[in-house]
Amino acid sequence: MPLPYSEKLLEYFRHPKNVGKMENPDAKAKEGSPACGDMVTLYLKVDEKTKKITDIKFESFGCASNIATGSIITELAKGKTLEEARKITWKDAAKELGGLPPVKVHCSVLAVDVLRSAIEDYEERHGLVKEKVETTKEIVLKRLKHVVNPIVGLDVVKTNIVKNIDVTDGVVRMLIDLPRDHQFAKNIEEEIIERLEHLWDIKKVEVTFGE
Ligand code: FES
Repeated sequence: MPLPYSEKLLEYFRHPKNVGKMENPDAKAKEGSPACGDMVTLYLKVDEKTKKITDIKFESFGCASNIATGSIITELAKGKTLEEARKITWKDAAKELGGLPPVKVHCSVLAVDVLRSAIEDYEERHGLVKEKVETTKEIVLKRLKHVVNPIVGLDVVKTNIVKNIDVTDGVVRMLIDLPRDHQFAKNIEEEIIERLEHLWDIKKVEVTFGE
């Protein structure tokens, strides 16, 4: 039986807005949904003075609901300040789309999460983080929960391939339990570095492979 999607949701799925990759974004974020394993990447251009979002694009490897909510959220966020955009909720997106089937709520949560992560990424890259919490092993682990292990489509923490995390003097070190020449090793390394390198107190991220 087809899911009870609203006409508006289907329209946004068929003709999504703000879709695609952005060259030289001011910030970007990638998030995966633990509920379904789908992925979304979101890019921002921000006016440095006013902190308004001047351009926004997303790429979704999610379902129809995710593409539609990504569309709506990017439309809602465009022209808003980072503070205003941060307040957009999945309920706002669902309301704009004329409702969402309950089984599809997580798809809109994913779209909101990736927008908030991109805002955080902008703040980290531009030294705007207000609460400067010291980076600990727990914070590193929390961030790594967003890095997908493409071999199984689950995050690298859950799949237990991250070992020996250490944070000392602004350097994060870890061992990834995969051979250096594994086809996804470079990919995973890049994502890990991207997730951690903009933390305010981190100077370097060192990822080694193999055991
Ligand atoms: Fe994965 Fe919708 S089912 S994003």
